[in-house]
Amino acid sequence: MFDLFFFGVLPYLALALCLVVGILRFTVKRFSYSSLSSQFLEHRTLFWASLPWHLGIFAVLLGHFAVFLFPGFFRALLADHRILLAFEATGLIAAFISLIGLALFTVRRVFSGRIQSVTTTMDLAVLVLLLLQVGLGILTATLQRWGSLWATGVLAPYFDSLFRLQPDLALVKDLPFIIKAHAVLAFVIVGLIPFSRLIHMVSLPFTYIPRRLQIVIWNFRRRKDLVERAALEDESRRQFLRGATGVGIGAVLIGVGTLDKVVPFFKGPDLTKEEREELLSLKVKKLKATAEQKALELERMQSETLFVANLKDLKRDSGTYFIDYQMSPGLAFLDAAGLPLLYSAKCPHLGCTVNNKAEGGLVVCPCHVSHFRVADGGRVDGPTPTGLRTIPHLLKDAKGALVTAPEAARLGEYQVFIAKGERS
Ligand code: HEM
Ligand code: FES
Repeated sequence: MFDLFFFGVLPYLALALCLVVGILRFTVKRFSYSSLSSQFLEHRTLFWASLPWHLGIFAVLLGHFAVFLFPGFFRALLADHRILLAFEATGLIAAFISLIGLALFTVRRVFSGRIQSVTTTMDLAVLVLLLLQVGLGILTATLQRWGSLWATGVLAPYFDSLFRLQPDLALVKDLPFIIKAHAVLAFVIVGLIPFSRLIHMVSLPFTYIPRRLQIVIWNFRRRKDLVERAALEDESRRQFLRGATGVGIGAVLIGVGTLDKVVPFFKGPDLTKEEREELLSLKVKKLKATAEQKALELERMQSETLFVANLKDLKRDSGTYFIDYQMSPGLAFLDAAGLPLLYSAKCPHLGCTVNNKAEGGLVVCPCHVSHFRVADGGRVDGPTPTGLRTIPHLLKDAKGALVTAPEAARLGEYQVFIAKGERS
C-alpha cells in the first residue's frame, strides 16, 4: 500500500504539480521565475556557498540522469572495477562539495540578520530537505555500494516503467529504507519546485550571452513610474485570472476524462450473474491450489531429508535449482572431484535468485550484477556484502542408504539430499 502511493502515485503527482503550477506561475508571475537573489544584501558567503553547491549538485545529477537514461551503456562501462571506483568516487566528492555549499547557504540564512529578513519558511524548508536529500544520497552511495551499477538493473527499469505509465512496483519493493527515502524525497522536492526559489533552475539566463550590454541609470520620473506600475499590476491580475481559468478548465477536463477509470476502481466492476459465478469458481480454485501447496510444504517439513538431484545429473557449468526447507531456492553444482556443491540461490544483497549458468567459474545475480565463485560461493564483486551461503548435503546410494565415504567408481548411482536440521 505504501509502495503503491510513494512509488506508483507520488511520482506522477509531483510531476503534475511541478508542471501545472510551474506553467501557471510562468503565465501570471513571469518575473518571479528567479532565485530572488539576495546578493545585494550579502555577497561574500553567497559566492562561497553558491559555487560549490551548484558545481557539486550539477555533477551529481548529471551522473543520476546518465545512469537512468543509458543503463545498458553504463552497465558495460562500469563492469570494469577501476572505472566503477572512479565513477563512484567522483560522485561522492561532488556530493561532499555540494554539501559544503548547502551548509554555507544554511548558515547564511540563519545567522545573517539582513538575510533573515528576506527568508521565508519555504526557503528554510527547501534547505532542510536538500540537506536531508544529499545526506541520504551519501548514505545510499556508501551503505548500498556500487549504486551506479545496480541502479542500471533496478532504478533505470523502474523509471522506464513510470514513463510507460505502468509503474513496476516489484522492482522497488525490496529496496532498503534509505534508498526508498532518498527516492521519495526526490519526488517531494520535484513537487516543491514551483512553490520555491528552486524554480530558477528552469530559467537559466542563456539569453544574457548574446544580449547587448545594458546600462541601468536612475530615473526621477517617479509619478509616471507609479502610474505605469499600477497599470502593470492591473495587467498581471488579469493575466492571473486568465491563467487560473485555463488551468481550472484543464483540470476539470482531465478529471472528467479519468472519472470512468477512477469510479470503477473504488466501486468495483459491474458484473453479470455468469461473471460473478466464474469469479467465484476462480477464487475456489485458487484457494484449493493454496491448500495443496500448504499440504506439500507440510509434507516437506515433516520429511527428514529432501531430494535435490541425482549426482550424475549435476554439472560444473550449469547449476540445478532446488527448493530448500524454507521454500527458498538453492543451486547444486558439481565440483572438480565429481561431488556436489550446494548453495542458497538467494543473493545476500537484496534477495534475488542468482542465475544458474556459470561462466568462467562465476555465477551472477541478475538484479544488481553481483558475481560469486562456483567453487566456494565466495563474493567476487558487485553490491553483495557476502558470498552465497553453503548448504551441507547428504549422499544416498541406490538402496537409500546413507553414504559416508563416497567411492569414485560408484558416484553415478548416488543421490543428493539436504537434511532437515541444517539451516538452509
Ligand atoms: C532531488 C534529487 C536528488 C538529489 C539532490 C540527489 C542527491 C544524491 C547525492 C548527493 C548522492 C551521493 C553522490 C553520488 O553517489 O552520486 C546520491 C546518490 C544516489 N542517488 Fe540520488 N539524488 C536525487 C534523486 C535521486 C533519485 C530520484 C534516485 C532514484 C530513485 C536516486 C538514487 C540514488 C542512488 C542509487 C545513489 C547512489 C549512487 C552511487 O552509489 O553511486 N537519487 N544522490
Ligand atoms: S539482489 Fe542485488 S546483487 Fe543480488
